Amino acid sequence: MKSYAKITAQGSYVPTKVMTNHDFEEMVDTSDDWITTRTGIKERRITEDNEYTSDISYKAVLNLKEKYNADLTDVDMIINATLTPDYKTPSVASYIQSKLNLKNSGAIDINAACAGFTYGLNIANGLISSGQNKKILVIGSETLSKITDYTDRSTCILFGDGAGAFLVEYTKNNPSFITSTSGSDGDKGQNLYCTELSKEMFNNHLENEGYIVQNGRGVYKWAVGNVPRIINETLDKANLKTTDVDWFVPHSANARMIESICEKSNIAKEQTLMSLQNFGNTSSATIPLSIDLAMNEKKIKTGDLLLLVGFGGGLAYSTTLIRWTI
Ligand code: ACO
Repeated sequence: MKSYAKITAQGSYVPTKVMTNHDFEEMVDTSDDWITTRTGIKERRITEDNEYTSDISYKAVLNLKEKYNADLTDVDMIINATLTPDYKTPSVASYIQSKLNLKNSGAIDINAACAGFTYGLNIANGLISSGQNKKILVIGSETLSKITDYTDRSTCILFGDGAGAFLVEYTKNNPSFITSTSGSDGDKGQNLYCTELSKEMFNNHLENEGYIVQNGRGVYKWAVGNVPRIINETLDKANLKTTDVDWFVPHSANARMIESICEKSNIAKEQTLMSLQNFGNTSSATIPLSIDLAMNEKKIKTGDLLLLVGFGGGLAYSTTLIRWTI
């Protein structure tokens, strides 16, 4: 019999320390007005020095467990999307597996930068639909503050820390997942990078080793030029139009950029969910955080159609069109 996958619970966690736009005025040559008008960001959350991605992932899962009284004892896979893992190995997912004492669970981290969470959801859907797994935790979590250069005004004002988690389960009917699209424009990878072992790709123009370096304008141009096409490709597969979608949930990178994308795609501002005003760009965590905020505000209802669109470093992208089943 065919297996399907269904989202049954969601949770989140953000660190308690708040960094406002005014805090940046003390650190670099910027202003609240510049940041608000150019990005839409007002605040972001920052982890303590000894607080890492695994810590906030774990707290997001505990939040999910508590809110939905979710039984996690039979989780058989953990997928943690992040570009800021505590270690190269062990993975963040292994840490969660150990902390929750999930004896029968696999554990993997994936890195698709800001597209990581939607990639994670699509992988979870594939694993459950093919019968390999039955209950999967998908987490998007980042501590970008640890790889942010706080002397570079063009990047430091953007990034924040946070985590979101979904529980995806086997179901015989009423699946969440309708269709998806994924891809990558790897030729444009130099627009957004953080070096580690190899520096080959950057020849002699390497900047700021170990910190995020971004050609903001390059990414902006790419996103406004390509994301509307990616949205159409996804909806075409399901024979739907943007007006059929209840909630559009793009990666929260920049409000102005999202407004341009929405305008090109005929998506109303009122149907767009963002988390950047409160939390900044938290890469793989922005999409589950946007959904969490909207759930708290009781915006999303069971049966609503949601289009999630992740894009960023790579430049990689991944969409998923889902029917909300919580
Ligand atoms: N405060 C004041 N002035 C600033 C600041 C700042 N914080 N940062 C840059 N400026 C200045 C620049 O120096 C420049 O000055 P100049 O004209 O004298 O040279 C001017 O503002 C314009 O700079 P731009 O970089 O062209 O500004 P832009 O309007 O493009 O905004 C931004 C920059 C916010 C970074 C924007 O390009 C952006 O958000 N890009 C997309 C980011 C994104 O989507 N990233 C992908 C996901 S992230 C991930 O995957 C981890």
